[in-house]
Amino acid sequence: MRRKIFAALILLLLPVSTIALAAPAAPAASAAGIASPDGHLQLQIDFDKDGRARYAVARDGQALIAPSQLGFLLADARKLDRGFAIESQSQREFDETWEQPWGEQRFIRNRYRELHLVLRESESLRRRLEVIFRAYDDGVAFRYVFPEQSAELRIAEELTEFNIARPGTAWWNTALEWNREEYLYQRTPIEQVGLAQTPMTLRLDNGVHIAIHEAALVDYSGMDLARVEGRRFKALLMPGSGGQPKVVRKTTPFATPWRMIQIAPSAARLAESRLMLNLNEPNVLGDVSWVRPMKFVGIWWEMHLGLSTWGSGAKHGATTANTLRYIDFAARNGIGGVLVEGWNKGWDGNWWSDGGSDFSFTQAYPDFDIERVTAYAKSKGVVLIGHHETAANAANYERQLGPALDLYARLGVPAVKTGYVSDAEQAQVYGADGVERYGWHQGQDMVRHHLKVVQEAAKRHISIDAHEPVKDTGLRRTYPNWVSREGARGQEYNAWGTPGNPPEHEANLVFTRLLSAPMDFTPGILSMKTQIAQGVPTTWAKQLALYVVIYSPIQMAADLPEVYEKNPVPFEFIKQVPVDWSETRVLNGEVGEFATIVRKDRNSEDWYLGAIGNARPRVLKIKLDFLTPGQRYKAHIYKDGPKADYTEHREDMVVEVREVNAKGALELKLAPGGGQAIRFERMP
Ligand code: NOJ
Ligand code: CA
Repeated sequence: MRRKIFAALILLLLPVSTIALAAPAAPAASAAGIASPDGHLQLQIDFDKDGRARYAVARDGQALIAPSQLGFLLADARKLDRGFAIESQSQREFDETWEQPWGEQRFIRNRYRELHLVLRESESLRRRLEVIFRAYDDGVAFRYVFPEQSAELRIAEELTEFNIARPGTAWWNTALEWNREEYLYQRTPIEQVGLAQTPMTLRLDNGVHIAIHEAALVDYSGMDLARVEGRRFKALLMPGSGGQPKVVRKTTPFATPWRMIQIAPSAARLAESRLMLNLNEPNVLGDVSWVRPMKFVGIWWEMHLGLSTWGSGAKHGATTANTLRYIDFAARNGIGGVLVEGWNKGWDGNWWSDGGSDFSFTQAYPDFDIERVTAYAKSKGVVLIGHHETAANAANYERQLGPALDLYARLGVPAVKTGYVSDAEQAQVYGADGVERYGWHQGQDMVRHHLKVVQEAAKRHISIDAHEPVKDTGLRRTYPNWVSREGARGQEYNAWGTPGNPPEHEANLVFTRLLSAPMDFTPGILSMKTQIAQGVPTTWAKQLALYVVIYSPIQMAADLPEVYEKNPVPFEFIKQVPVDWSETRVLNGEVGEFATIVRKDRNSEDWYLGAIGNARPRVLKIKLDFLTPGQRYKAHIYKDGPKADYTEHREDMVVEVREVNAKGALELKLAPGGGQAIRFERMP
């Protein structure tokens, strides 16, 4: 059997016609390369003395990525990494501008140069390996292509390296640990990074910022980064389910996810990069006008504060009466949705660690009348946001997925928040062989599960917002109903985290996790006392700024209705701030320090600004030249008051209204743990 698979592999990695190449077989060359369209980035391919193919990247002639190896360990054949020469190569250029159905930016330019390399072992097995490289103005990317073969291909490990050429600082998140994607960011010299998740962000000693991540993660294991030595990193694929050492199982032909290196001269330019979206395939869902960006409130923070429970009993949060109250509040304030968590059976006991097999996605607790609640919501012009907490029992969820989504579709629920709370490697998930195993949240089986949920939801015109999700790799371009996700520590850690989020957390997120935005962070908390001593370590003004800084097309007004009712001034901004934008600019920023982002409303001529800092007070000077020249704007400024601080007087916020125009400038004074939010209302 082994011999047979081995033979098939040799045979089928040999020339096949399914991979169309523009250039005919060229004489073997020793090197190849491409430059970005603007000429600043250079990508070079060469071979070491053993014929290992390597890529290297430079910016304006300065090395950023030193020669870095490519290749694979295969489970059923000899490793595929040496003795290579170029059999053929072809290049093409591409330039298009495409439109996002919703997003942080309406039109995105996708311009690159591509190099398609066919490598061939010059001796022995003479197998082929194809690599497609792309050079963009904001980074480089490559993916491997495996041609068709009869047997299943089992990839034991990728040998892809990222060998950072210069010293610098890294911001990174621990990988392969029990708390999944929800660790605090570490800031260390590059040489001190351990096992890191992606995106990992680097600031090199020449000021260039780099983020290493992946795009278009489909039916493949998620990639972590293992530091081998010095500044050399290697792709580390998440292990297979059930402790299976051979991590990726594929039928061929297929292409791996893109290995992506975003490159920018500053942190602000890095945060403006749309490389990940550009590397994904266009929308396959057709008309997605049913995907509805909106704000929502929800029966949510009250559970995180311990005021009510998901489970049944005297403190049950998701009762009919409570939900009607939230619906009334949403309707009164022009908020489109109401999330209800804990309405369905299965939450009693330790739901977060008991394996999730009790969860029903169609049966309500007796004190929740889903028909009445949805009919009432409809009469008020409000929709319910659905909730499917699975406790990472994806198999239990898949068994009920059809009826669960049908129910929501019948009741007019346009979006479902899913959840996969469990320790890492405790996801219960079907393999491609139909066998249920324990797996990692970023493993190949969970990657497949998430896309299945998104595709099934799309059939019913439902959008998905996944918590404890698989990482974002830009698939919202292909499946625009994949509207948001969590995938890092959200606001909830300020309710019960041990520890809570530090004041620099959001300024870290902007340049790390949010490079693969959107994120359902749940901003807008004004009740700063929580279950932990530090409470919410931001000022009010910063909570408002987060609506602009953290992009998500579905955005929660996360606090309790009674808190908003008592505090109409900050709530006014939360009511007005849009969730769908035509333009986004990052005016300034440094990783973990501060960021100022402006966005233009997609449905009006108004602009919004969000500025956030860390624990240190700071003054940021900005120009208003993003505004339309010749127009007058009324700036509604929500800024930290003189006493504001993230440890006390968090509510000290001053609102100022003044007229401004594109020729003007502003000084944004941020308190410790502070921020600033501005609405630029275009005047007639
Ligand atoms: C974790 C999610 O992030 C949170 O928003 C949700 O309330 C709980 N799981 C319960 O599903
Ligand atoms: Ca969570």
